[in-house]
Amino acid sequence: MTVKIGNIDLGEFPLLLAPMEDVSDPPFRYVCKQNGVDMMYTEFISSEGLIRDAAKSVQKLDIFEYERPIGIQIFGSSIETMREATSIATRVNPDLIDINYGCPVKNVACRGAGASLLQDIDKMVAMTKAVVESTHLPVTVKTRLGWDDNTKNVREVAERLQDVGIKALTIHGRTRAQMYKGSADWTLIREIRRNPRIRIPVFGNGDVDSVEKAANWRMEYEVDGIMIGRAAIGYPWIFREIKHFFKTGGHLEGPTIAERVEVCRTHLEKSIQWKGRRTGIFEMRRHYSNYFKGVPDFKHYRMLLVSLEDVQDIYGVLDEIKEKIDFVPA
Ligand SMILES: Cc1cc2nc3c(=O)[nH]c(=O)nc-3n(C[C@H](O)[C@H](O)[C@H](O)COP(=O)(O)O)c2cc1C
Repeated sequence: MTVKIGNIDLGEFPLLLAPMEDVSDPPFRYVCKQNGVDMMYTEFISSEGLIRDAAKSVQKLDIFEYERPIGIQIFGSSIETMREATSIATRVNPDLIDINYGCPVKNVACRGAGASLLQDIDKMVAMTKAVVESTHLPVTVKTRLGWDDNTKNVREVAERLQDVGIKALTIHGRTRAQMYKGSADWTLIREIRRNPRIRIPVFGNGDVDSVEKAANWRMEYEVDGIMIGRAAIGYPWIFREIKHFFKTGGHLEGPTIAERVEVCRTHLEKSIQWKGRRTGIFEMRRHYSNYFKGVPDFKHYRMLLVSLEDVQDIYGVLDEIKEKIDFVPA
């Protein structure tokens, strides 16, 4: 049985790259796509920003043919603004539009957007309906279990949003109050999956960081697919490793040092292509230590990578890492 969102066929048990602000931009998405991810999302985009034509928001609409299927994620507090933003996002022709009802950070959730809609389900339903009516594309939603421990209302959310036409739901197994603390609890996600009223795909999200966990939670929580965020940062190989396990039951070896260098270099090249030399080099600095996590004696190289300004010098350091570091994958 393959999983479908509208007409988009995602194959059996798809793996999704989570939308992550300042992370899941085109350069990062490129390396995830190379490693077998089945579906990706942009970073969240402010609906206010889109209708004001703010450069930061508009740049996030950049999507590429090779990325398909790809969803554009938007958030906002005003139904009218969300309606307009949906039309704008639809014009760049993504495969779907995703609404963010999960962001817990203050300047989103305390301004009536993101997870704060979990406190006003009537408004969430009206907003979702407006988005669905403003596009011919499938609309999906990403949310959390509820606002806090006393208001875990995702069951009602799932039923009512399906009724107004969403085509898939991703649930992060935390409440807004939890932010990113504690551990994700997927039991309520399973309850929703088991609800006979729910016919749309339900994707589980939160804390999947290994092949074993993906395999165990697939069985235990009965989800239609898994969305992975943090574990893919600096380790896009997680997608190919999980997919390989599902296909063969065997474990792929982790990436060699040469592969780490190659992917890191590709990420840097794409960063420069998309953001320009200066910003591309600068914004890549946050990724180096992730690509070489667990590699012994890396500190010296890290210091160089995050301070060098000339791309040829950076390539030189990457080449030296490849030659000099002897690292056997776990
Ligand atoms: C740096 C960062 C940025 C994020 N930005 C977004 C975002 O733009 N939209 C969204 O829906 N969730 C965002 N999230 C939440 C993730 O999509 C995901 O729900 C969360 O990290 C839990 O999944 P994980 O344990 O696999 O990382 C962000 C998370 C992180 C760590």
